[in-house]
Amino acid sequence: MDGAAARIDELRVLIDHHDQRYHVDDAPEIPDADYDALLAELRALEAEHPDLVTPGSPTQRAGAPARSTFAEVAHRVPMRSLDNAFDVDELRAWTERVLRRLGDDAPPVAWACELKFDGLAVSLRYEDGVLVQAATRGDGRVGEDVTANVRTIDDVPDRLADGAPPVVEVRGEVYMGLTAFAELNAAQEQAGEKTYVNPRNTAAGSLRQKDAAVTATRDLSFWAYQLGEVVDGPEQDSHLGTLAWLDALGLPVDAHRARFDDVDDVVAHVATVEAARHDLDYEIDGVVVKVDDLALQDELGFTARAPRWAIAYKLPPEERTTRLLDIEVSIGPGGQATPFARLEPVFVGGSTVAAATLHNADQVAAKDVRPGDVVVVRKAGDVIPEVLRPVLAERSADSVPWTFPTDCPACGGPLVRPEGEAATFCANHACPRQVRGRIEHFASRGAMDLEGFGEQRVDLFVSEGLLVDVAGVFALDYDRIAAWDGFGETSVENLRRAVDAARDRPLGRLLFGLRIPHVGTTVADVLASAFGHLDALVVADVEAIEAVEGLGPIIATSVHGWLREERNADLLDRLRTAGVCLEAAEAAGGDEVEPVLAGMSVVVTGTLSSRSRDEAKAAIVARGGKSPGSVSAKTTALVAGEGGGSKLAKAEDLGVPVLDEAAFERLLATGELPA
Ligand code: IVH
Repeated sequence: MDGAAARIDELRVLIDHHDQRYHVDDAPEIPDADYDALLAELRALEAEHPDLVTPGSPTQRAGAPARSTFAEVAHRVPMRSLDNAFDVDELRAWTERVLRRLGDDAPPVAWACELKFDGLAVSLRYEDGVLVQAATRGDGRVGEDVTANVRTIDDVPDRLADGAPPVVEVRGEVYMGLTAFAELNAAQEQAGEKTYVNPRNTAAGSLRQKDAAVTATRDLSFWAYQLGEVVDGPEQDSHLGTLAWLDALGLPVDAHRARFDDVDDVVAHVATVEAARHDLDYEIDGVVVKVDDLALQDELGFTARAPRWAIAYKLPPEERTTRLLDIEVSIGPGGQATPFARLEPVFVGGSTVAAATLHNADQVAAKDVRPGDVVVVRKAGDVIPEVLRPVLAERSADSVPWTFPTDCPACGGPLVRPEGEAATFCANHACPRQVRGRIEHFASRGAMDLEGFGEQRVDLFVSEGLLVDVAGVFALDYDRIAAWDGFGETSVENLRRAVDAARDRPLGRLLFGLRIPHVGTTVADVLASAFGHLDALVVADVEAIEAVEGLGPIIATSVHGWLREERNADLLDRLRTAGVCLEAAEAAGGDEVEPVLAGMSVVVTGTLSSRSRDEAKAAIVARGGKSPGSVSAKTTALVAGEGGGSKLAKAEDLGVPVLDEAAFERLLATGELPA
């Protein structure tokens, strides 16, 4: 008994800790399956010792307490969690419990199956069809007011279709689609910023931004799956009927829903979903099975934590073991030294993984993974592979902990870890890996768009000493290049032309190209149009930069500090001398365009041959249109380049016109959609 009491205490502390990491910090330490196992163990012990159950036990509540930075919202109808079934036997056992509870006289039960979306539960409150409040789940009774943030989500209508009742609360999941997540990380990488670990935590972190303008830059989506409070709504008798009604009101409801009379068909369905989970553009972690008949749901009611009429069938986590061959360190363009694992290739989460980031020195130490270990690998978010932990039973006796190298693998210079920071850096600004990274970024499409400056060329120019910084691009020794093998007259001439064209790029592109910390394309454009000319920005103080709409103290301090570093001031001087444009697009007298797309919402997906996606979006915005990251019923048209998978499918589902590049160019020129 004492042993059980002690273990119960221990489990409660552990679960509280992991709840905090998951729900509040958005940084879970253990896989969901491990957490579920802790909770299952606690539940089993409490079932054996009912006298030890306390109201504060994690088994008696839905999630973590709400965070205090947002105003509190009391849920009029509690937001409950779901009980889980971890295998088919548990799923069948639940259906049997339901049938037993309903008794022999009950009508036959139909089972409604939906996907279990892996995001963050929110409740949207509409009054007279207008969105008035959005709240997170919090502890199930009180959540956080995230209205301003949710309003930035394209999928969430501000207004419902005609016929909405005086009050309707819609519960659903805010999530980040896999394409959106990959695009966000690609942009982070390009800006030399840290990448995000998985879509779920990124969605949660994005939604809980204090500044809704930041949320607006994240391409979040929403699926509706349940009702909260409803006043004077139409009579509904089934769950699937309710979902169809939500759909008709203009809310996004996922199409992967089905109704089965036979439990065997439910079991077959979950297997089908499991096999097809990688065909979706969003993460799911299971299938939710609900009793479809709402009268039967009422009869079944709730336990303290969850409804008796629903269960979450959890898909097995995608984890595999493999051999960690070595731990190496890569050097990013900002000098960041990132440890990563070289792995014996293993198929996990829908693709083969041969390398996985280990993030930083602390992560390697905390996980204590060592070269030679057998390790558990998970494809977190099915996007970024992650090494979870070593399999200690298989560790060889002579294994030693890995230590972070003291010298940069690229230049041999010292690696330093600034006090209080998790990251380690190569301190040598002239490290060829850093120089290459900076020039590659400068030459990239969203920046100076230098044709002919691909990775290999840049590598060659840097290793031959022809380029030591980005200003060198405008002072290339073409005679030397012309003497090299593989550089004919035409290719040298093309290089010269590309460099000349880059000289005229507007200030926003230049600022982005310089890799100033915290300055991505959007911030660069905001800075350029606010100050008009580089000279105005150079003399601005932190307050003046911070006063610009959309910029905060972190960005202002970073930009101000960067411009004041002697090395950077010198670089700007040389760019100026080289005749590089220092004016913003508007001031430089860029082509005036007619606002032919005013009121239109045009989404761009896939790769276009004539413009980068950012350029395409900019062209839309310049003509008065909007270019959100996802397709919804409000989308005017979808421009589909090569490889535009899920958005294309969604547009086709919603009957949104799909344009090829030629039709897009016509739209930009005339504002007209093809007949
Ligand atoms: S229904 C009263 N349906 O899973 C029942 N929940 O682990 C309310 N979730 O809190 C939940 N997809 O955040 C429901 N199709 C779905 C869902 C779903 C994801 C989440 C939701 C819930 C959690 C429980």
